[in-house]
Parts: sequence; structure tokens; C-alpha cells
Amino acid sequence: MSQTAADVVSFRIEGRIAWVAFNRPEKRNCMSPTLNRRMLEVIEDLEFHDEVGVLVLTGEGSAWSAGMDLKEYFRETEARGLEGVRKSQREAYAWWKRLRWYQKPTIAMVNGWCFGGGYGPLFACDLAFAAEEAQFGLSEINWGILPGGGASKVAAELLSFRRAMYHAMTGETVDGRTAAEWGLVNEAVPLSGLKARVTEVAELLLKKNPVALKATKDAIRRVREMTYENAEDYLIRAQEAANSFDNEGRKHGISQFIDDKSYKPGLGAYDLSRQGR
Ligand code: COA
Repeated sequence: MSQTAADVVSFRIEGRIAWVAFNRPEKRNCMSPTLNRRMLEVIEDLEFHDEVGVLVLTGEGSAWSAGMDLKEYFRETEARGLEGVRKSQREAYAWWKRLRWYQKPTIAMVNGWCFGGGYGPLFACDLAFAAEEAQFGLSEINWGILPGGGASKVAAELLSFRRAMYHAMTGETVDGRTAAEWGLVNEAVPLSGLKARVTEVAELLLKKNPVALKATKDAIRRVREMTYENAEDYLIRAQEAANSFDNEGRKHGISQFIDDKSYKPGLGAYDLSRQGR
């Protein structure tokens, strides 16, 4: 996997964290078809990379992402007719979907502007941390469309009904602090401390059993749409399926607590290194 100077996606791996960034700062990291195609390639290459345990998605410059590129994603693809429109939609949705079901835990590190189509990858990440200074908005109404590409769904999933309606119908922005209060992101911290906080959370995740993490994040997404009975059943099957990938992990988890008394599961994770990871 290599990166060119003109790449619209930047990435580097440091301490088992893959830092992936929208890299069109001069265009406020809005998502063009080129960016969408490139992002899918990059995240696919990183997904099963041995040196990656957590993926962080952030933006270069003052924006996280100013949403879809009004020129290249909307105007230019519309000029190519329905075929062009559907193709560019599929390219965008493809990498958001890949992130929603990504093998590794994912964190959105929202450093600045986050608009419209940006809510797709925001929701696709398992966790989200924002700068207090960041601004979030469903700006679609301001230029005359509905919040598509999943943005309405994301608002309805993450916000209360009244907040989702107000946010979508007015197109007003909210800052990172309000986004955290509303549940759009987990937390907001001053921009100067954002990377340190995200690193801390990523390092916490790196200490957990990776098979259990993947099963857990899928479970939280899946059970949202299930009845209690279906969820109970799904979780039994999902744990049994996880055991076939990693039958030793939970045994270590039990033994390090019950026999060795070397940790308390209520207060932290068992020592993965003693399991030979
Ligand atoms: N699509 C296409 N181009 C965009 C863009 C978008 N979504 N967002 C920013 N740009 C371009 C601007 O056209 C400008 O290009 P130029 O330098 O060739 O003139 C460049 O990025 C910088 O944008 P600018 O508006 O000057 O930056 P700013 O820092 O003053 O404002 C925003 C930042 C994000 C508030 C503003 O760019 C904006 O409102 N963008 C659109 C947000 C939006 O509605 N997105 C659509 C969601 S579906």
C-alpha cells in the first residue's frame, strides 16, 4: 500500500493505530468520487493488516468533512445521467458500509467541520470524539435537498425525534459540546487535547480481546433492530461463533481472574500477552 503526494486520503500506522484522514483540506475534505474510491482502497488494505488494531478517521486541516462534494459528487455525476448518479452513490455508500462492519474497532476523530454526507462515516465509526470547536450540521436543507445518503437515518438513530427534526429542518450548526450532549459523538474535548484523548481510548481498545471486540460491536449494531427474544438468541449464536475463532481468550479471561487473581474484569481487561497475542 503506498501513498502519493497528491493522495486525497492520508494514512499512517503508529503504535497499532491506523490514522486515516480525509486529505482535501483546501476543499474542506468534501467527498468526491475520487476520494470515495480511494478511501475504500485504503480501509480495505488496513482492515486485516497485522500492525493495525484500531482505525481512527480524521481530517487534514480545519475540516473533518464538509460532506459530499457539490461539484464533483452532485453536479458532475448528474451530468452523466442516472448511471453516473447511481455509480457515485454506490462508491460512497460502499466505504461507509465497510466501516460500519469493519473488522477492527473504529473511532471518528472530528477535528472540525462535519456536514451532511459526513454523517455517514461518522455513524459508521464505532465511537466518535469531537473537538469542542467542531461544527456539525445537516446543511442539505440550506441548498435545497433532503438529508440523503443515510444522513436522515443517522440523525433519527442518534438524536431524539425533536432534535433530529430541528437539526434537519433548520440546517443550523451545533458545536462539538452540543453534539456530545445530543449523543452524536461520545465526548467533546478542546481541539488541543483531542488527539491525546483519542489515543488514550484507542490504547484502551488495543488491550481487549480483538475477537470479542468485533463480536461486541456487531452485536450492538444488530440488536438495535431486534426484539428482545431475537436479540437474546442472536447473542447466543454470535458468542458461539466467536468461540470458534477464539476459544482460548475467554478461558484466559476466566482463569486470570478466578485462579491467578491477577486482574478484576469489572475494572479492566485480562493480560492478552499471556495468551500469546
Ligand atoms: N462541495 C464542494 N466544494 C466545497 C464543499 C462542498 N461540500 N465544501 C467546501 N468546498 C470548497 C469551496 O467551494 C471552496 O473552494 P474554492 O477554494 O475553489 O473556492 C473551498 O472548498 C473552501 O471552502 P470555503 O467555503 O471557502 O471554506 P470556509 O472555511 O470559509 O467554510 C464550510 C467552510 C464547510 C462552512 C463551507 O465550505 C461550506 O458551507 N461547505 C458546504 C457544506 C455543505 O453543505 N456540504 C454538503 C453536505 S451534503
